[in-house]
Amino acid sequence: MAVIAVYSVKGGVGKTTIAVDLAWRAALVSNHRTLLWDLDPLGGAGFLLGQPERRAERAASIFQRDGRPRDLIAPTQYAGLSLLQADPSLRSLALTFARLGQRRRLAALTMQLSAEYDRIVLDCPPVLNEVSEQVIGAADLVIVPLPPSPLSFRALELVRSEIARQHGRHPPILPVLSMYDGRRTIHRELRAGQAAGWPIVPASSDVERTAVLRRPLGEVSPTCSAARALQGVWDAVEAKLGTLNGAPAPCSNIQHPAAIQHPAVIEHPPLAQRVPARVVSAPALELRVA
Ligand SMILES: Nc1ncnc2c1ncn2[C@@H]1O[C@H](COP(=O)(O)OP(=O)(O)OP(=O)(O)O)[C@@H](O)[C@H]1O
Ligand SMILES: [Mg+2]
Repeated sequence: MAVIAVYSVKGGVGKTTIAVDLAWRAALVSNHRTLLWDLDPLGGAGFLLGQPERRAERAASIFQRDGRPRDLIAPTQYAGLSLLQADPSLRSLALTFARLGQRRRLAALTMQLSAEYDRIVLDCPPVLNEVSEQVIGAADLVIVPLPPSPLSFRALELVRSEIARQHGRHPPILPVLSMYDGRRTIHRELRAGQAAGWPIVPASSDVERTAVLRRPLGEVSPTCSAARALQGVWDAVEAKLGTLNGAPAPCSNIQHPAAIQHPAVIEHPPLAQRVPARVVSAPALELRVA
């Protein structure tokens, strides 16, 4: 089982769009038993999958000591894809975690689900607080969507250095250049410079339409350029997870073999400085140990 977080401290950068798409690909393209876990009180993931809004305020209660995430997980209309839907109770999630005093509560809950799911995708709110701390503690890989702007890049570096300062290490980070528009000079310059080698998701009306149709891009426009780009991101994710797990990278759906050691992945500590892996018994922890 692997936990993939789609996270940024910035709002409106494409996190939910990418999380829903990758969860759909995990289930429908890679045939993984997949859980999409929406941690954002706005509940965008359920919305994009066409789920009815949930009014009952229960999503935060599963983090309590006796909380039972399974009670809130529901299948979606897509084979192999389940959803743990958000609701407004998640507004106070940072406080819930702080009161609980368990720094790895989310990690423990994802571990509990590891027999039922191969991939858990976390759609995260745009915060830098106890919620993001828990996400970093639970994730095997963090995808950070960045629209092509120097401000996004600055935010990434601030967050990365803050996490490294607090934890001494962080899970591999895969930055993704989101909403890329090749007609814009600044976008092209960043792509050729700071973001060289990063996966790209183009700004696309096909993506915008998914929010109107409330169906995944891979279903409504499977061959459009954004869908192909997102498949490339998913391939890079699977390839990276394969290397973390010590297992050969899955090759059935790898379209870009170069992604296996994706040049964009940010590691801390850098690979060269790592001590050999410790052997630990829990498989999900093995993924995290450098
Ligand atoms: N590649 C893209 N092309 C065009 N529009 C996009 C693209 N990605 C996302 N969008 C649009 O941008 C808006 C914000 O996207 P999304 O909700 O995924 O961002 P977010 O980071 O999850 O936002 P929040 O921080 O509010 O949760 C949505 O209207 C979405 O349809
Ligand atoms: Mg969102």
